Amino acid sequence: MRKIVVLSGAGVSAESGIKTFRETGGLWEEYNIEDVATPQAWQKNMELVQRFYNARRKQLLEVEPNPAHLAIAALEEHFDVHVVTQNIDNLHERAGSSKVLHLHGELTKSRSSVDPELIYDINGWEIKMGDLCEKGSQLRPHIVWFGEMVPELENAARLAQTADILIVVGTSLNVYPAASLIHYAPYDAPKFLVDPNELFVDGVTNLTFIKEKAGVGMPELREKLIADWA
Ligand code: APR
Repeated sequence: MRKIVVLSGAGVSAESGIKTFRETGGLWEEYNIEDVATPQAWQKNMELVQRFYNARRKQLLEVEPNPAHLAIAALEEHFDVHVVTQNIDNLHERAGSSKVLHLHGELTKSRSSVDPELIYDINGWEIKMGDLCEKGSQLRPHIVWFGEMVPELENAARLAQTADILIVVGTSLNVYPAASLIHYAPYDAPKFLVDPNELFVDGVTNLTFIKEKAGVGMPELREKLIADWA
């Protein structure tokens, strides 16, 4: 079976009703990254950070995977599919994808603020102030904040390096190191970029740009990949 690596971003969940970050009306127009998504923000105002992620976790309980997530999951019938997502939602998993690597963490999990090895599933949508880990420290969102290390990066790079086919869907490729993964894929591997907006991507060979929303472009691409490569 050929190996497909999918690098996804907020755009793949846009049609499920989850805001992207950098488009007009995006999340970073509503909130300052410095107030809610950095270790300094956590030290300065834990309650505000908790409220930001609790609100996003509550919304996640009310949305569903969309045809893009479902098409990516359905590719597993014909290919060895590895999803490397920048998203913290669980929509790829809920659509049926069985191999999902979260570069920026997972909204549905909390973590000890003194021992990063202590990770817990969150039942419901809230991490409350006073919810403590087994070592007695306040639980924090299990999210990679700006300025923090990306623990899964090496695994993600290894996946991209060994991809037979690379799909990049719903990411502005603005945030590193995630955005660098497109350059790890083999020179001759077919690469597909699915995004309704124009993206400037330099130095990438064998690239096909599918200028569509993911909910339309991904089902079309699935059909094409099965016809040409399965
Ligand atoms: N289908 C496909 N792509 C879409 C759709 C859609 N329906 N709607 C928007 N897009 C595209 C936009 O054109 C843009 O290229 O999705 C991309 C969203 O870009 P960003 O908002 O920058 O999101 P992302 O690339 O995932 O951000 C990366 O930045 O804030 C951090 O940690 C956060 O993981 C996030 C990272």
